[in-house]
Amino acid sequence: MIRVAHAGVGGWGRNVARVAGELAELAWICDVDEERLDEYAKRYPEARTTASFADALADEQVEAVTIATPVPTHHTLAKQALEAGKHVFVEKPPAMRTEEMEELLALAQERDLVLMPGHLLLYHPGLRRVKELVDAGELGEVACVYGNRQNLGVIRSNENALWSLGVHDLSVILWLLGEEPSEAVAYGMDYLQEGIEDVVFCFLRFPSGKVAHMHLSWLDPHKMRKMTVVGREKMVVFDDMELERKVTVYEKAPWEPAESYGEWRTRTGDIYSPKIANDEPLRLELQHFLKLVGEGPGDHREARDGLAVVRALDRLTESLRDGR
Ligand SMILES: NC(=O)c1ccc[n+]([C@@H]2O[C@H](COP(=O)([O-])OP(=O)(O)OC[C@H]3O[C@@H](n4cnc5c(N)ncnc54)[C@H](O)[C@@H]3O)[C@@H](O)[C@H]2O)c1
Repeated sequence: MIRVAHAGVGGWGRNVARVAGELAELAWICDVDEERLDEYAKRYPEARTTASFADALADEQVEAVTIATPVPTHHTLAKQALEAGKHVFVEKPPAMRTEEMEELLALAQERDLVLMPGHLLLYHPGLRRVKELVDAGELGEVACVYGNRQNLGVIRSNENALWSLGVHDLSVILWLLGEEPSEAVAYGMDYLQEGIEDVVFCFLRFPSGKVAHMHLSWLDPHKMRKMTVVGREKMVVFDDMELERKVTVYEKAPWEPAESYGEWRTRTGDIYSPKIANDEPLRLELQHFLKLVGEGPGDHREARDGLAVVRALDRLTESLRDGR
């Protein structure tokens, strides 16, 4: 079994630790919060606990680390782990600047180590189905994609809505379209805390002509976790708030009948929801990480995807600042 050290057992990190403990040998648990460490020492008596990440990295038997600490710490911890020769799974985003992510990718490539960002939604069975539909050409040529990630709260103070919520949708949009944007524009407003945007609207244009939009907000009456893909033949909606109908395919499209002399009409056919497996995305994600640890990082696709996301975030941030 692969020996893993995990850092960060906060709100989300405890899920990562739980699943890592189910799939691998959880040898170390690291957190700077002593109370949390005590709790975990009781829960996982076979694991060693420490407030110092360096202790876990010094264990030569540890092959891989999973990191779920606050975003500003990701780059430093991931870099230390790669330098210590460990494979790294790090929550999104692994870095807050393109140069930092480039540095991590270069380190992983140089040392032939896995560097995998926690882009959870890419492992969601519903979005996997959407990706299959797009790749198989079922929707026809894709024209646009848009994401809605809105709710009232959680109001963050150390990152804005773009960085807190946008990473998820951005990772999905780039993965679905398979290209990086040529244009990235964002507008937002900081209503609650100065300099921290609560509401952000983003527009992305891609070299192929496809476009994407993201509405990101923690100041909204609706809890929405939705991604819509509009194709020339069909349209599909992924709605993570739905319990059963996570994916809905609409046989709706514009249509130009031969006798209509250039007039466009619309066509509506079946609307159906394919069955989606109920597998836990985090489990699928960490299974993929451990598979890479066993087999090797290959062409570092996961880390390169992570770099594309950070690069787009960086450009959107620049646009957000320019627009203010
Ligand atoms: N994939 C998802 O759906 C998802 C959901 C929520 C959060 N996240 C990500 O998970 C990460 C953690 O989020 P959270 O909500 O658990 O945060 P949190 O603030 O609840 O917990 C962070 C934990 O890390 C510990 N910590 C801080 N600095 C540390 C260090 N240097 N070494 C060891 N431990 C340290 C803190 O004491 C705390 O226990 C973030 O990067 C966040 O973006 C991902």
